[in-house]
This record gives sequence, structure tokens and C-alpha cells, in this order.
Amino acid sequence: MNNDIMTGLFKPKSIAVVGASATPGKIGYTVLKNLIDSQYTGKIYPINPTADEILGIKAYASVMDVPGEIDAAAITVPAKLTLQVTEECGKKGIKGLIIITSGFSEVGNHELEEQIVETAKRYGSRILGPNIVGVLSNADHMNASFAPFLPMVGKAALISQSGALLIAMDAASYTRKVGFDKLVSIGNMSDVDFADIISCLNDDENTSCITLYIEGIRDGRKFMDACKNATKPIIALKSGTSSHGAAAAASHTGSLAGAAKVYGAAFKQSGIIQASDLNNLFDRTQALSLQPPMNGDNLLIITNGGGVGVLATDAAERDGIPLKFAPKEVQDEMKKHMPEFGSAKNPVDLTGMAGTEWYTESVQFALDHSWVDGLVVLYCETAMTNPIEIAKGIKRAVDAAKTKDKPIVVSAVGGEKSDAAIQWLLENGIPAYNSPEVAINAMAALREQAKAKITVAEKFKPYGDYDKETALKVIKKAREDGRESLTEIEAKQIFEAYGLPTTKGLLAKSEAEAVEFAKKIGYPVVMKIVSPEILHKSDAGGVKVNIKDDAAAREAYNVILANAKNYKSDANIHGILVQEMAPWGTEVILGSINDATFGPTMMFGLGGIFVEVLKDVTFRVSPVSENQALIMLDEIRGAPILAGVRGEAPRDKEAMANAVCRYSSMILDLKDEISESDANPVLVYEKGKGIKIVDARVILKKK
Ligand code: COA
Repeated sequence: MNNDIMTGLFKPKSIAVVGASATPGKIGYTVLKNLIDSQYTGKIYPINPTADEILGIKAYASVMDVPGEIDAAAITVPAKLTLQVTEECGKKGIKGLIIITSGFSEVGNHELEEQIVETAKRYGSRILGPNIVGVLSNADHMNASFAPFLPMVGKAALISQSGALLIAMDAASYTRKVGFDKLVSIGNMSDVDFADIISCLNDDENTSCITLYIEGIRDGRKFMDACKNATKPIIALKSGTSSHGAAAAASHTGSLAGAAKVYGAAFKQSGIIQASDLNNLFDRTQALSLQPPMNGDNLLIITNGGGVGVLATDAAERDGIPLKFAPKEVQDEMKKHMPEFGSAKNPVDLTGMAGTEWYTESVQFALDHSWVDGLVVLYCETAMTNPIEIAKGIKRAVDAAKTKDKPIVVSAVGGEKSDAAIQWLLENGIPAYNSPEVAINAMAALREQAKAKITVAEKFKPYGDYDKETALKVIKKAREDGRESLTEIEAKQIFEAYGLPTTKGLLAKSEAEAVEFAKKIGYPVVMKIVSPEILHKSDAGGVKVNIKDDAAAREAYNVILANAKNYKSDANIHGILVQEMAPWGTEVILGSINDATFGPTMMFGLGGIFVEVLKDVTFRVSPVSENQALIMLDEIRGAPILAGVRGEAPRDKEAMANAVCRYSSMILDLKDEISESDANPVLVYEKGKGIKIVDARVILKKK
């Protein structure tokens, strides 16, 4: 499959421009002219029903008239003609159709889009688009698009869901000095999607980094698999962070999930490095396309200025690669390249007196020293140094260093001469920026790349003790009652079936039963209303805690019942749940949504009644490995609470991580049944003492 996409769309030996025109200003003219101007070496066939020749090349009325094979067709006829053209291209055996034409699903014309896809499929042709700018490839001197020129030469490949942004990035590649081998406009993704192109470009010798601009993905799991299987770094900028699927949320999790969070989780789990904005996408792409990953935590900074050194130190801490002091032998060596008043710690400050030689020698030493995992070289323009000479000195050091698998990133702050030095470094394969913070962030991307490889290698091991049958029975019963909302008791039965510990409880249907059950469970108890129509029990006055004796149990029974009737007179009341009163523990929340793009997705965070106020939660697409679960526990703001604050014993993170994994298994296993769920609060006890789910909510999928 990759071969067809590669030859049909990215490396065709021949291209037909269907809808080629001799009229300047028409897209069919521009695409043909661009192919010629980019010095495409394959064969070009202009296709036009009335022209004999366009721009000096023999034209044909149809692809069917062309003698010999054609690999690709760039289609620039109006939408209404595309079906017939697709049919002809299919008959001709054309492998890739680059359909530039607009007027399909993006304007609601789904039918025509389905028809062209179905037609192409019949002939085994693949469609890129429709509604795209086209494809540009430096390696193949191919500008099969209406973007003005090929981008600055480099090794990144951009796949963009926005055509206009692709054209802008094409031009900006020169001013931002980020080199691309390919620019691919993906448009409506009627057939070929992100996953297909990622798999294909992962095998492309001219691509070293895959850069994505994403508005929305259709098949989230296919996308994740393609990214996980890729060996090259993938960086993505996702736009559209407005609420997603939250509109009809019946659970806390549903209301807290949003596109940004779910995509962010999927990116993390698929080894995708994230960009925070367009500039960041460029800057990080530059480093990822030119340098190897940073395989350890030891970052060394060499600078000639204290100010930029401190700025870089701050940025390093912010970006997750905080500085450590270099070991003595590194410091001793560095002292040889600086005046007395320099600093050999980290940042290594060669001082403003640093000339080219000091830079060259210290950079080479640092690259070859086993302690250093990544090197950021900072330079402030001085009257005593020539930036271009410093740049050349750094390059000499890189070439002379025996170690070739360590990343180096440079920042040169100054004027035109520094800019020229940056340009020179880039042309020589060294990422260079005009600010220390950006250089550090680029290095952080290389560190994230190394960590991403480890994440992707983690395998989820399901526990073998699930009782799916019991869970399905509970769900079946609720469906038979015509309900999509399970009671707390039912939800807990499902949780228990997946090995999640819940508080013990019995459903009392009378005052006498309430007392009997309370005794059985042991005082103090909690009593709660059980009604599918009352989801927010506390709001309805349907919860009483710390009930200590028979009289209190009797009273609670009657008060809760009266409150519930008052709250919703026609509510179907199943009874009153008498429950063990779990001892205090740290309150967290577990929950799930069934995301439209990525499917079952889970949430973990600080729980209790403030969950939607504090919004201290994190997400992962299910299933979640134990290691990812532990990372989830550590990445919320409230993580120190679980670690044990102010003399409190650390909480049982292992049991909590285990619960996260089990919960993630449960929602995946029951993905056809469960729409949303919450376990809130979940009480986390001291290390070794486990966890307990106190309240549970499950909303079924509509069937
Ligand atoms: N085979 C080949 N060429 C054909 C044809 C056929 N069956 N039928 C007609 N043509 C020719 C036309 O004769 C014309 O050539 P001419 O200038 O020599 O007459 C050429 O195809 C183009 O057709 P035309 O009707 O002039 O269309 P157009 O150039 O005004 O518009 C599109 C065509 C595709 C550009 C337009 O429909 C469109 O979709 N524009 C938006 C594209 C876009 O922005 N995409 C990216 C979004 S990010």
C-alpha cells in the first residue's frame, strides 16, 4: 500500500495535469507551470479537451489518449467533472489522484466525494484530497501544486490539513530557515489520511522528521498506530481546542474532556512531540529534522554571556530539562578555556572574552564526554568576536568530535552578523536560533523525542481476572428497564467485576431493612438515595453520612426519601443504599468518555466535590499501561498530595495505578455499552492500604 502512495503521490515518474489550461491565473495553468518551473524530471502530460499544446508541452484530450503509463494525476477540473475524470484515470491505471478541486464534503457535498472515492477504489487508485493545494517535493523537483515554489531544502515533511497554511509555511520556510523535503496538503482526507502518509513517509529516505498541522482526525486509533510504528520523530500542532463532546456530558469526565486534552493524551501515547503554536512548530521541526534525540537528562550549556545563560537555565527548568552541575572532570577541562573569572559549572560561562578557539575546544570536549547527553551553545555578539567565525568553530568541533549521536543546538543573539551565522549553521546541519529560550525549547523537543520512544515501546498487559459476563448482565438488566443511566449499585457491580474495589453496600427497601443492613455493615454508615432519575444525589438531599445508631438510621431513611420525593416527585426510587462509611483517604476521580475520534478515553485527577472547580485532571486513551498510569498520577498539579505532604504518609500510588489500568481495561472491554462513567470520589489510602471507590456513575450508550 505504501508503495502505491509513494509512486502515485510523492514520487511519480509521470504526471498528468487534468484540467491544464493555457490561461494564466487559472489553477490548471499554475499547476502545470509549477511542475515545469520546479524542473520536474518525469514526464508531464497536460490534459485538456481542446488544446493541442500548453506551455510548450503536447496536450491530450483525455488521459486515455496518452501513450504509455501515468503514475499520478493532478486534477484541476471543476467538481462536477471530477467523477468522470476519476473514472478515466482509474481505467488508465493511474495510481495516485491529487485532487485539488474544491466543492466536496467541505461544503456538504458528501455524495460526490463518496462517489469519487468509490470509483477510485474500484480501480485501485488512491486519492489525496480533494480540496487541496497539492504536493511539493524537493527531492523529486516536483511542485504539483498551486503553491508558488518549492520550500527551502531540508529533511522535514509537512502534512497540513489547511491549504492556506501550507502555502504560508512554504514561503516562511525561507524566512524561518526551516528546510522541508516535502509539503503535502491533505484536504478532506476522503481516502488517504494522516496515518497512510505517516507510514509512507516513515519509509522515505529523504524525510527525517514528520511535521503535522492537524484540525481533526477521523480514525484516531489508526492514526495512533501509524505514529507508534513510525521510527522518525513526529511533531504536531493541533488547532481547534474548543470543547469537544462536552455538550451533552452527563459525567464529570464528560464535562472536563475537550479536544485539546484528548488529542494531547493521544499524542503523548503515540510518541508525538507537541508544538504549542506555529512558531514553535517551525523551531522544533528544525531541531528534530537535523539532530538526533537527546537520550539522557544531562544538558550542558556553554555560553559567553551570563545573562543568556540564566535565561537558558530558567527555560531549561520550564521545559523539562533542568540543569545539573557538570562533574569535576568536565569543570576542570572547561577551566582551561576561560579566564579566571569564568564559571565552569553549568552553564559553562566562557565569558565575553571567549574567542573561536575556546568555543571549538570546549564544544568538542563536551560532545565527546560521556556525562553530556545534549549540548546547547549560546553566543552573544561581541565587539571582539566575529559570529560567522564562531559558527565555523562550532561546526569544526562537531566534525572533529568522535561522538555523532548527541544533539547540539545553538543560539546566537545579535544583529545581522549573528543572523548570517545562524543561516550558515543551518546550512551546515546545526539548528540555530536567535534566542536562548527557543534553543532550549528545541533541545527539549529532542529530549521529548527520546522519551516518546520509551513510552511507545510500553506494552499494555491486561489482567486476566475480569468478569465481563457479570458486567454485561447488569447492563442488560438496565436496558430491559429502558434505562441508560445505571444506579450506583449497578455501576459498582460493574467496577467490582473488573477488580476495582468499591465500598460495601446493601439496598434497603424499608426503614426496618435500613436498620438491619446498617447493623450488618457496622456503624457508622452512609445512606444514599438510589434512583436512576437522581444522578446528583447530594443536590437532592439524598445523602446522609456518619450515621451512628439505629435511631439515626431510621431518621435518615425517612428524611432521604422525603427529600428525594420533594426533589423529583415522579422519580423511580429503587430504595436506599446503606453503605460502609469508608475511612478518610485522599479523594481522587477516575472517569471515562467514549471519544468520537479516539474511542474509550480515561481521566484521572483530584476528586471530590471540587473536581470541576479545580479541573486538576489528566487524560489517556484506553488502554493505559501501568507505567503510563504512574505518569498520570505524577502529572496532575496535586501530585505532591499523593506523594504525602506535611508529614502525611505517602498514598498507595501502586494500588491507584493498578486501578487506572483496570478502569481503562473496563471501558475498552465495554466500549460498545458504556458512554461515560465516573468513580468519584475514589479514596486513596496510605501506601500498602489500597484504594476504595465510594461513588460510581455509568451512563450507557444509546442503542
Ligand atoms: N478534462 C480535462 N480538462 C478539462 C475537462 C476534462 N474533462 N473539462 C474541462 N477541462 C478544462 C477546461 O476547459 C479548462 O481549461 P481552459 O482554460 O483551456 O478552458 C480547465 O479544464 C479548467 O476548467 P475551468 O472550467 O476553467 O475551471 P476553473 O479553472 O475555473 O476552476 C478549479 C477549476 C478546480 C480550480 C475550481 O473548480 C476549484 O475547485 N477551485 C478551488 C481550488 C482550491 O482552492 N483548492 C484548494 C483548497 S485548500
